[in-house]
Amino acid sequence: MQAKLIDGGEAIALSTPDGTARFHAIWLRDNAPDADTRDPGNGQRLIALRDVPADTKVEEVALDGEVLHVTFAPEGKTVGFQTRWLMEHSYDRDDVAARGWTGEAVETWDSRLMTAIPLADFNQVSQDREALARWLGGVTRYGFGKLTGGPVEEGALLKVADLFGYVRETNYGKFFEVRTEVNPTNLAYTGLGLQAHTDNPYRDPVPTVQILYCLENSATGGENMVVDGFACAERLRAENPRGFDLLSQYCAKFEYAGSDGVCLRSRRPMIELAPDGELIGVRFNNRSAAAITDVPYDDMADYYAAYRRLGEIIDDPAMEVTFKLSPGESFIVDNTRVLHARKGYSGSGSRWLQGCYADMDGVRSTHAALVQELGMAAE
Ligand code: FE2
Repeated sequence: MQAKLIDGGEAIALSTPDGTARFHAIWLRDNAPDADTRDPGNGQRLIALRDVPADTKVEEVALDGEVLHVTFAPEGKTVGFQTRWLMEHSYDRDDVAARGWTGEAVETWDSRLMTAIPLADFNQVSQDREALARWLGGVTRYGFGKLTGGPVEEGALLKVADLFGYVRETNYGKFFEVRTEVNPTNLAYTGLGLQAHTDNPYRDPVPTVQILYCLENSATGGENMVVDGFACAERLRAENPRGFDLLSQYCAKFEYAGSDGVCLRSRRPMIELAPDGELIGVRFNNRSAAAITDVPYDDMADYYAAYRRLGEIIDDPAMEVTFKLSPGESFIVDNTRVLHARKGYSGSGSRWLQGCYADMDGVRSTHAALVQELGMAAE
């Protein structure tokens, strides 16, 4: 291992068996792990950037085993960094990822996932923390997971939310009934088939998790389907890069005003990218799409062609995973990514599901904390 000052102490260059990387003096100082910079108990930063001199430089570096001692001027402060931590947090790269990239923690899928659905037994994940960690890991990776063997009782879906976080209450209540209603306030409460969609795109922020829990399902039809919106967006990008750009650069509009006292509206793209091009969200819902007014006239025809094509990809059976829930079974989707659908149902028998919303930050947090606690290899 080797470390040296570069650019007159504005930065350092570190060479380790894992690679080499440069780090700016100001970045190192801001991320110093010492007890005066970060609270040893909760890990929170005790200083603001204003407390760090703007002309901070590195005066000296010295390697001591796995620790790199860095002395900062003008403070004259010396701080030890674990070299492994530094390399794990390296930002010294010059490859620019394509628009629509996804991180290593995301794996996109199509109908072939059918044989490898993240699946677990409700009682097992309720009692076995390692089983829960594995299942939550699958949910973060695929944006989807299924549970079997749960209690067949009203409100049992709240116990699914309890596994990783908190229910997000909305105007539909803490949870809602999905079964055929007379004069429904939402088409979900009918026997109609529903095109694959993400829920509540008219909400800002959208609920990032949906749980659907089956209590009765003896009607003919009524299968559930899930589709990976990220895989669909990637396919659109491969086929029609301009269409992908149009759906990600311009905002669509969504609206729901189907019950008294509710008028929810949002303005967001159907394919959402972070400023650096990372694919972070898909919103797709024909029932609540409002008039799109933020696409320039000259681009609207192409925008609609891309919108149509994205819908065709979403409808392609090669993209979908289909299953019929039995009483006591449930599934969970990352509602910013995975679309869900229902086939029409009718005839004798009954279909009764309950649904609720929650959030992916709880899924990710619980998973990360369990991985750390149990010393499991991060997936
Ligand atoms: Fe839905």
